[in-house]
Amino acid sequence: MRLSGRRILLIVGGGIAAYKSLELIRLIGKAGGRVVPVLTAGGREFVTPLSLAALAGERVHEALFDLTAEVEMGHIELSRSADLVVVAPATADLMAKLAGGLANDLASTLLLATDKRVLMAPAMNVRMWEHPATRRNRERLAEDGVLFVGPAEGEMACGEYGPGRMAEPAEILAAIADALGPKPLAGRHAIVTSGPTHEPIDPVRYIANRSSGRQGAAIAAALAARGARVTFVTGPATAPRPTGAEVVEVETALEMAAAVEAALPADVAVFAAAVGDWRPVAAAARKIKKTAAGPPALALAENPDILASVAGLAQGRPPLVIGFAAETGDLIGNATAKRQRKGCDWLVANDVGDGSGIMGGMENAVTLITAEGTEAWPRLDKREVAERLADRIAAALA
Ligand code: C5P
Repeated sequence: MRLSGRRILLIVGGGIAAYKSLELIRLIGKAGGRVVPVLTAGGREFVTPLSLAALAGERVHEALFDLTAEVEMGHIELSRSADLVVVAPATADLMAKLAGGLANDLASTLLLATDKRVLMAPAMNVRMWEHPATRRNRERLAEDGVLFVGPAEGEMACGEYGPGRMAEPAEILAAIADALGPKPLAGRHAIVTSGPTHEPIDPVRYIANRSSGRQGAAIAAALAARGARVTFVTGPATAPRPTGAEVVEVETALEMAAAVEAALPADVAVFAAAVGDWRPVAAAARKIKKTAAGPPALALAENPDILASVAGLAQGRPPLVIGFAAETGDLIGNATAKRQRKGCDWLVANDVGDGSGIMGGMENAVTLITAEGTEAWPRLDKREVAERLADRIAAALA
């Protein structure tokens, strides 16, 4: 059966859709899975602990400060004993709590304490779903690695029509099976570089670029979700750090090169960082003063090319080395030449020309260049690009 032996911690939030969670428990049971139910105070207004307990064949957890429960199993342990945490219905309130890191009841504490993936099935009024705050929270949660199923569009209990209906139990079951699905990269080690580098001029100034680190973080999260051990070497990026990866923070290209070397060996290395090509020869020890003699001259030295040096390793070269190329003209020509010059196996090329909004933005339009040829992908959310790339990596290493 699809979920044989898998344990699902099911958090039932307060919404009319809570009645569908009862059916969900039944479906999970039929698929061979076990459900440990957690009921919020709001959820209790819609379904009774007795129905949940009867269907799940497990006691229902409700209170954060429950002495009996703490003796049997502490709430931290409870958050980790499952294979997956499912929130259905996920109310606007539960989403906001997790997005903001609040932990003031059992459900929100479990969500914050868990080391497992979280799958949310949102259910709420259309306006609440479309409110900028909820949209912001959803975006933030997705960046943190939370999975979503639904909501669907349709007639709502409140009489309005639009997105906000909780996904049907069968659909949630499919998403659960997906989330718990095979881990094709289990046992593999991936190195992902990400973000810009800062090359110091003096203690307060540096040379940098517009990279947000979003694409690299999404790739690291997608590889981790497929079971890989991920070393995520990041420059000072604004994007949230990916869940499930070991994060190594660096500032300069030289530090990034050293961190990558220290992280080897690896089965795959993805160089998504926008590494500074040059650094000031020597950073001034004190802030450089403005003088009547005019602006100072900046002498630059070339940074090591991390991608090219790892791709060129005679010994210990990762079997799959992937580079990125941000180009502003003749994308395919430049990127194809770059793949050969750098000696990498695949090159993910993107046009970051004026008006593309790609560098620092949420979307990416990439062309994958391999020894076999080029493949243009449609313009996608950076997370989608990461999912596709991770699937390709998993297939290549299989
Ligand atoms: O030559 P260019 O900077 O366009 O190459 C981009 C690719 O090379 C990216 O994958 C980037 O992470 C990598 N790179 C690197 N070290 C550098 C410069 C670029 O790893 N010093």
